[in-house]
Amino acid sequence: MTSHMLKILIALPLLTLSFQASGEFLEWCIADEQTLDEELQRALDWACGKGGANCSKIQVNHPCYFPNTLRDHASYAFNNYYQRFKHKGASCYFNSAAITTDLDPSHGSCKFEFLP
Ligand SMILES: *[C@@H]1O[C@H](CO)[C@@H](O)[C@H](O)[C@H]1NC(C)=O
Repeated sequence: MTSHMLKILIALPLLTLSFQASGEFLEWCIADEQTLDEELQRALDWACGKGGANCSKIQVNHPCYFPNTLRDHASYAFNNYYQRFKHKGASCYFNSAAITTDLDPSHGSCKFEFLP
C-alpha cells in the first residue's frame, strides 16, 4: 500500500466524523410532488395565515413570485414557516403536503431561507 493511499484511508473517516460533529445538516422544506393542488392550496393558506410564515416574497413584484405556480409558492411558504419555527416544535409536514430536501431550492434572486 502506498503512503498516499494510507493517507486517504485515514482522512476519510476523520472527514466523516468532523462533518457529523458539526451537527449541521442543511435542510429545506418544500411541497411534496405528489400533493394535490387542493391540499397544497389549503396548506399554503394556512402557512401564510395562522401558521405565521412571512409570504411577502411570493407576492407580485417580489423575488419568489416567479415561477407563479401553486407548487412553487407553497414550497416557499412551507420553508419559511419551517425555518422560522422548527426550533419551537414546528415540523415540515403540512398534513403530508410537504417534504424535506437537502437541495437548496433557491433560484435566481429567490432565496429560500435556511436558519441554523
Ligand atoms: C417579511 O419579509 C419582508 C421581506 O423579507 C420584510 O421586509 C418584512 O418586514 C417581513 N415582515 C414581517 C412581519 O416579518
